Amino acid sequence: MANSLTVLERQSPEKLRNDFRQDVLHGLSANPKRIPSRHFYDAVGSRIFQEIMDMPEYYLTDCEREILQKHSPEIVAAVDRPFRMIELGAGDGRKTRILLEELQKQGRDFEYTPLDISESAVAGLLEDVSADYPKIPMRGLVCEYNHGLEYLCHADRRNLVLFLGSSIGNFSLDEASAFFGRLRAMLNPGDLCLVGFDLVKDPAVLQRAYDDAAGITRRFNLNLLSRINNELGGHFDLDGFQHYASYDAGRSTMESYLLSRRRQSVRIEALGHDFDFGAWEAVHVEFSWKYSEGDIAMLAERNNFRLKRVYTDDRDYFAVSLFEAV
Ligand code: TRP
Repeated sequence: MANSLTVLERQSPEKLRNDFRQDVLHGLSANPKRIPSRHFYDAVGSRIFQEIMDMPEYYLTDCEREILQKHSPEIVAAVDRPFRMIELGAGDGRKTRILLEELQKQGRDFEYTPLDISESAVAGLLEDVSADYPKIPMRGLVCEYNHGLEYLCHADRRNLVLFLGSSIGNFSLDEASAFFGRLRAMLNPGDLCLVGFDLVKDPAVLQRAYDDAAGITRRFNLNLLSRINNELGGHFDLDGFQHYASYDAGRSTMESYLLSRRRQSVRIEALGHDFDFGAWEAVHVEFSWKYSEGDIAMLAERNNFRLKRVYTDDRDYFAVSLFEAV
């Protein structure tokens, strides 16, 4: 069967640039200052993020791989009929391959459907994965999650929705609950979701993962200022800012900031404006929420899912949870 790529909607380069412009304008005009984390992932940022995922301190990658390797036979066996495996956020397919491998081994009848708003990400993933798994039918979909699920989740087949990595960590507990509510509304009873959660743990471990010794995360964060310089005519001196990561134990969230190391004023041509930074003023750039097993159970309970299994790694750092729509 031929593989296909369907573009339901796509973000034009003009729209992306305009969103970036607006977010920088509003975020740097606000008090406290902030820039939304989605703007990290331009071509350079996405490459640095790959480096983050490969660093030893960033335990998330290894933990998730360990869990999938150990439990994929059981996960795959939990889907009882021919199905559609829908992956939210295309990623690089490394972890998906573990599941694809097992599905092929068990000779399962299924279709793989990666879904992402970035056309190049979906196209790249389809190309890579189909080269290694020519017999698996694949259908890439370019659109936002909500749209894609509406389009895909018919009752003709079971649906298995993958939301791996720590994408859910971009959401606070309330936002995650709203996400599960929307997800549930598009699924049929018996459909399954496999979701990755980074768990609460010793803050020292978190600190190393978000502020590594080699300075990769620092480069990742400062790239945001390079982006402003390159794309919006900013005049940021990168040496004038430093990366700072801290854990808020009360909120269970790892936060990243860019700190202005001195008092300075920075012009951004495309915004026609100079922005003032006080000495050690912080620009908030990222929340990464950490979850407890109780939080995960609550997300299921509140949104008409049954929590079938929570798989964790040997150190209990990360959880891959299997939810069933009831
Ligand atoms: N949000 C992802 C995470 O929490 C990616 C990430 C890793 C990240 N390190 C970061 C984002 C540092 C901003 C800053 O794992």
